[in-house]
Amino acid sequence: MELFATDLERLAFLLEADAALTLDPDTLGSEAAEQSAPEELPPEKRPKYITNYIGSKQKLVDWIWKHTPEGTGTVLDAFSGSAVVAYMYKTKGLQVIANDRLRYCHHAAKAIIENNSVRLSEDEIEALLADNAKAGSFVQDNFKGIFFAKGVHALIDTIRANCDKLSGFKKDIALFGLGKTCMSGKGGFGHFSSSTDYGRRQDTPDEFKDRLRKNLQRINALVFDNDKENKAYRQDINELLPKAKADLAYFDPPYATEFSTTNYERAYHFVEGLMTYWEGLEIKADTKVKYYETDHKTVTKANASEFFQTFLGNAKHIPHWLISYRDHAYPNEQEMKRIIGSFGKQSRMKSKDHHYAITSKHGEASNAKERLFVCAPGAKASAEREEKPAPMAAAANFHTSIPVDIRLGEGERLATEAMDVGSAGDPQFSFVLCRTGTNKNGDHFTAEELSGRHMTAVNKKVDLQHSQEFNDIVGGIVAADYLEDDNGGRVECVGELYVHDTPAARLAYKLMKRGIISQVSMECDYQEGECSICHKRFQNKADYCTHLRKFKGRDFNGQPVFEILHGVTFTGLGLLDRKGADENARILQVASLQSQPDQSQPEGDSTMEDKTKPTDDPAVEAAKKKPAQQEGDPARVSDLEKENRQLKAQVAELQKRVQELEAEQKAAACRSRAKKLLTRLEKQGLSFASEEDREAELKRLAELSDEAFAATEAAYERLPKSAKADKDKEEKPADSDQGGKPAAKASTETPLRSDAGVRPHDVDDRKVSLEDRLRDGFMAAYRNRVGEDSPEHSQINA
Ligand SMILES: C[S@@+](CC[C@H](N)C(=O)[O-])C[C@H]1O[C@@H](n2cnc3c(N)ncnc32)[C@H](O)[C@@H]1O
Ligand SMILES: [Zn+2]
Repeated sequence: MELFATDLERLAFLLEADAALTLDPDTLGSEAAEQSAPEELPPEKRPKYITNYIGSKQKLVDWIWKHTPEGTGTVLDAFSGSAVVAYMYKTKGLQVIANDRLRYCHHAAKAIIENNSVRLSEDEIEALLADNAKAGSFVQDNFKGIFFAKGVHALIDTIRANCDKLSGFKKDIALFGLGKTCMSGKGGFGHFSSSTDYGRRQDTPDEFKDRLRKNLQRINALVFDNDKENKAYRQDINELLPKAKADLAYFDPPYATEFSTTNYERAYHFVEGLMTYWEGLEIKADTKVKYYETDHKTVTKANASEFFQTFLGNAKHIPHWLISYRDHAYPNEQEMKRIIGSFGKQSRMKSKDHHYAITSKHGEASNAKERLFVCAPGAKASAEREEKPAPMAAAANFHTSIPVDIRLGEGERLATEAMDVGSAGDPQFSFVLCRTGTNKNGDHFTAEELSGRHMTAVNKKVDLQHSQEFNDIVGGIVAADYLEDDNGGRVECVGELYVHDTPAARLAYKLMKRGIISQVSMECDYQEGECSICHKRFQNKADYCTHLRKFKGRDFNGQPVFEILHGVTFTGLGLLDRKGADENARILQVASLQSQPDQSQPEGDSTMEDKTKPTDDPAVEAAKKKPAQQEGDPARVSDLEKENRQLKAQVAELQKRVQELEAEQKAAACRSRAKKLLTRLEKQGLSFASEEDREAELKRLAELSDEAFAATEAAYERLPKSAKADKDKEEKPADSDQGGKPAAKASTETPLRSDAGVRPHDVDDRKVSLEDRLRDGFMAAYRNRVGEDSPEHSQINA
């Protein structure tokens, strides 16, 4: 058995324990520390309830309150533990019922939840610490050498005996205080599962007394009356629930993960035994930590589903539920939703980041997310609608697109509903779909909208460019999660690429892996847009107010103008949107340039090149580095590097092919215009000595730059007309298409255009002298040669 679900939890626990220890009594309010029989403190003077109870929701109470339905009168904290959540509700003025099957937890809830006015006086506190000749020696006899420093075992026997002189809430306060003091302390682990020196609290009997005194004062200070009849129970959840009456049940059950379970009675066996002074309990003598046999069943991966199914079934009659839960826990979230829905509730899952500084042993929970299922009564149909949002195409009046950044292969998975649905082996990528607030386009997403509508992204297609083409689909979105953070909230999604089904998906995967596709766009529809200035709502762009029409995304009288989107439906992720496409083209080019040297080498022989020479492209560099840092596995790194090289070669190959095609096309067009010119000139009387000469001239003309060609053409036009006329006569029958006015045509109309349309429009053949044109033609040819360094281009014979 492990006490903490994760190492992180253990760390958090220890940090909290330290925090509790270093808490200055002054923070309790000076009255609390000074008064011998303190009275109720005004709310602002009341201390914060600090606890180091395992799995305590101390840090999440504000969040839990935020998601508490309005109008809740009575709340049941069904697994109350430290009672920190119950206490929060008490301060909010609700009637509170707290329940936990542990005695220690029950005394805590009696002391600060049910109890509205009873406190220990200073004398009573001192009496608890006084010697007692009649005290037993159970702790000294059974726990010698473990958990506490020398002398403390006897002190605990004494204090425990003194507790029995008290009764009612006073005794609850005393036992709660004693248990709390035993749990924490300098050193030790907070729980009682280690018999080692590390597991031993170091404080001396005097220090222990001092802490107990402070703890009792603190508990005194927490006591207050919220004018409600609050109640504490110590029952098994399934005994209590059928008869419990409340508007809301808050459930924070023990949870099981792949690697661990938490059995609270085991973890706290010493304190739990101390509460009854082990009455009726049998210590297992052969155990190092001397725990007693317990019949409390541990929630494990195997029985978790059944456990939830049973207790939630017993809570059907309570209209609202809030269920605390962790990612990576069992039952998984999909199963949780199913169970909740099966009892006629609709649910929304809220998530909150838990920032831990270190990674756990299992690599688990470093990004642990706290979950909260907010469940309300609802028709079954609406629960289903929540899971598979109906397309809102008919109702959608607007459409917009949101740029998003994608991440691939970071091993970071979101464990949300549809997570397990994807076929095995399809690579996943994650991306932040959308954040609360205003984006570059002036679209504004509220937390309400995103938390309510994020699931519409699930089961939407990932395609190449938002086309409707079936062949463009390369994947799908399998999970979406709304996370609250310091900046508001964000929707995180997981997409999957169907690499086994389409080559396009494979290419997309590779491009993403290399960082070549990193910015993509998400499309969304929405029903109504609201102006941030005049707050008018529109269902049609034609009706927009002036603010939205003219200033959306900008300022109006110093106020930002944005459109608040209502009724959002996410419709799909496009990998190559227009902006993305430009960006990708740029990166592709860079990649291809950089891979040129590789091409001169035989395939697979470019290792040196790639390993030694960094590229300038951060994306390519990052893609090369990432796996190395993350995996630390040389074989994998070299695999990835090889793949990287192959991909770059592929990209370069494609790029080259495109260039070749373009060149071919251009050459064909140039040859065609050269041919036409030559034919025309021959008609005008030009002749060649041999077929080779003619071919050479054709080649020369075809290879001229546009400018040089234009000049040459213009120069040829001025050849003596007589020659042309003679030729005309001879060749008339064959020259049907040029009719009787070839000369006029040549001299008065726009010169011939090549098929490719490359003939510059601004070459005016008539206004410039022959000499000028020849010079121009020469210069153009010269520039052409210098530019292209091709000897064939160096002459011009006109
Ligand atoms: C995660 S803790 C609750 C922590 C609490 N919300 C807090 O903030 O301190 C779970 C609690 O459920 C109690 N528990 C476990 N199984 C139970 C059962 N079957 N019936 C009643 N209480 C149970 C445990 O004793 C433990 O205190
Ligand atoms: Zn307006």
